[in-house]
Amino acid sequence: MNLTKIFFTLYQRLIFLFEPEKAHYISLTIAETLYKSWLKRFLKSKTKKFPTDSMGIKFENPIGLAAGFDKNGDYLNFISNIGFGFVEIGTVTPKPQIGNPKPRIFRIKEEQAIINHLGFNNKGVDYLKSNLKNFRQVVPIGVNIGKNSSTPIENAYQDYEYCMRQIYSLCDYISLNISSPNTKDLRDLHLEKYMNGFLKNIKKLHEKLIKVYKMRIPLILKISPDLTEDQIISICRYVKKYEIEGIIATNTTVNKSLLQNNKYHYFQGGLSGKPLNEKSNTVIELLKTNLNNDVAIIGVGGVHSYQSAKQKMDNGAKLLQMYTGLVYSGTNLIKEIVENL
Ligand SMILES: Cc1cc2nc3c(=O)[nH]c(=O)nc-3n(C[C@H](O)[C@H](O)[C@H](O)COP(=O)(O)O)c2cc1C
Repeated sequence: MNLTKIFFTLYQRLIFLFEPEKAHYISLTIAETLYKSWLKRFLKSKTKKFPTDSMGIKFENPIGLAAGFDKNGDYLNFISNIGFGFVEIGTVTPKPQIGNPKPRIFRIKEEQAIINHLGFNNKGVDYLKSNLKNFRQVVPIGVNIGKNSSTPIENAYQDYEYCMRQIYSLCDYISLNISSPNTKDLRDLHLEKYMNGFLKNIKKLHEKLIKVYKMRIPLILKISPDLTEDQIISICRYVKKYEIEGIIATNTTVNKSLLQNNKYHYFQGGLSGKPLNEKSNTVIELLKTNLNNDVAIIGVGGVHSYQSAKQKMDNGAKLLQMYTGLVYSGTNLIKEIVENL
């Protein structure tokens, strides 16, 4: 075991004494302070490069940070300097909101999994926008956007449009999160009944913004792992129709029976981490079969080792993301994957 791994194991033992949301806040506040200081020079990761071009963006490596880790862009110095080839911040909504009642994050250590029932707690898009404006970017940054819980699903597109307008010229891509299980009815946007109208409106605005800013910021759809094959095929049709540049597969699953410990089977929320791996791989495989090569597939869900990362790439993912793997293995995991690519 190398020194950083020993340090991480000791740190994890200590920080896991706190409940997950507090642990996340403490860890990131400390890390951001260090990476903002003169110490950054020594802490900055020196990961091997594995240049990847996708959606017109150049990535130093294809491993990214998944949405939800830094919802407001409060920790950009830290997340941009630990070896990721890109980072995604958000989910952000037009107005700030507090999310669901606490406790709303549960660690399932023995299965390297997490259940979260956060419900888009965030400080609102204006706050995130000012963080982005004040940050000198070092890796590509994506912004993940969603709707406020008070917005009816029929008007959801208006919330996404509001966020798009605010952040369009400040990021490298925008991901449309229609797949969080913790906002009532949000996943209905996957259904034919809503998807056509939703993407039609979004695309119209996208074309306008391309003209106004004279730059094409790619749009990516983040989908759920809890879809039937027919639903995935239908989504692929709309992605092609509206020229969406990429798909992130996948968000968390509501199928808690993937966990061996049945104590958690009736917990509310979305499951992430190792037990999600196979399910997200199946979605990636179906996307690969039903999409043209010009649509980027970003694989996420259960990446916990080089082997699990490679499996997703073999199934058709051009880029990868992770969240839960970082909680259980630390930033070393990024290096382990990139060095073996
Ligand atoms: C605590 C927590 C919060 C999350 N918040 C968001 C979010 O705000 N938006 C989003 O699109 N995905 C969110 N996710 C989902 C992740 O981005 C990712 O899609 C999912 O966790 C699967 O990847 P993983 O197994 O590597 O964690 C969240 C995940 C966790 C564990």
